Amino acid sequence: MLAHDIVATKPADVALSTRSKAELDIRNAVAIESAIDESKPDWVFNCAAFTRVDAAEADRETAFAINAFAVERMAAVCAKLGARRLHFSTDYVFDGANSGFYSADDIPHPLNVYGESKLAGELAIQRSGVRYLLIRPQWLFGVHGRSFVGLMCERACARQTTRVVADQLGCCTYTVDLARATWELIGRAEGIVHVANRGKVSRYALAARIFAHFGAQSFLSPCSVEEFGSTTRRPANSALSVRRAEQLLGREMPVWDDALHRYLSERDLVAR
Ligand SMILES: NC(=O)c1ccc[n+]([C@@H]2O[C@H](COP(=O)([O-])OP(=O)(O)OC[C@H]3O[C@@H](n4cnc5c(N)ncnc54)[C@H](OP(=O)(O)O)[C@@H]3O)[C@@H](O)[C@H]2O)c1
Repeated sequence: MLAHDIVATKPADVALSTRSKAELDIRNAVAIESAIDESKPDWVFNCAAFTRVDAAEADRETAFAINAFAVERMAAVCAKLGARRLHFSTDYVFDGANSGFYSADDIPHPLNVYGESKLAGELAIQRSGVRYLLIRPQWLFGVHGRSFVGLMCERACARQTTRVVADQLGCCTYTVDLARATWELIGRAEGIVHVANRGKVSRYALAARIFAHFGAQSFLSPCSVEEFGSTTRRPANSALSVRRAEQLLGREMPVWDDALHRYLSERDLVAR
């Protein structure tokens, strides 16, 4: 999902060499090293990850193999070959006990396996000695992948009765806005930067905007996390502060409902 928009928003003066999953399994350290050695890049971006949060609970080994150990080896190769690393992590490194907005200085404490594996990847990059920019986005949505927003669009279009939790808060992130911000941050920032669309929202409020767009409001109702009954723990409030990103970018991130509106228009165009 994100990789598609990273490619689509590439600045004209950047030469980008891409590898699909079929071309390169990031768990293959030898293949990673030869790909990096062949291109001699200034930066190595990694958008690949094990992103299925519920599936990670049942398959800790694969989640860590992709999100932590492969990331560790990639960082070591980059450090050896003198390339800088651009990596994406997640708000799920936090436990959600903070009632405000998380800054990059806040101490991570993941609640689920996905968050633990992503945090292990972050720490491996930091230990490796590579120069890096680590971007933490949250609640991604984009036209070219699976997301909560995409699922809500499908359910609203199909007039499916849907319950959504109202007591989980965060910021959502349109992959086009994240990709543009990423390209702007390259060369301007190092370390950890939080990037998301502006404004905190509940999962229910986000879904309500989507169901209203499709004229399907009566099919949506709120529930609590407890009533929903998922066995995977997720943070109650993992909203990310984008202040540092905005200072570095010299502009504000677009607000979430504007981003959602643009996503819905793009989705309509792609569907035609
Ligand atoms: N989605 C979110 O809400 C969200 C929120 C916060 C942060 N993030 C982070 O943002 C980044 C991009 O997320 P996204 O939603 O764009 O992810 P995505 O759509 O799930 O894309 C990740 C891609 O990586 C591929 N992949 C998995 N294992 C691989 C391997 N061993 N080698 C090569 N490719 C592999 C996946 O293929 P398969 O699908 O075939 O496995 C998938 O195509 C990730 O680092 C993610 O952790 C995402």
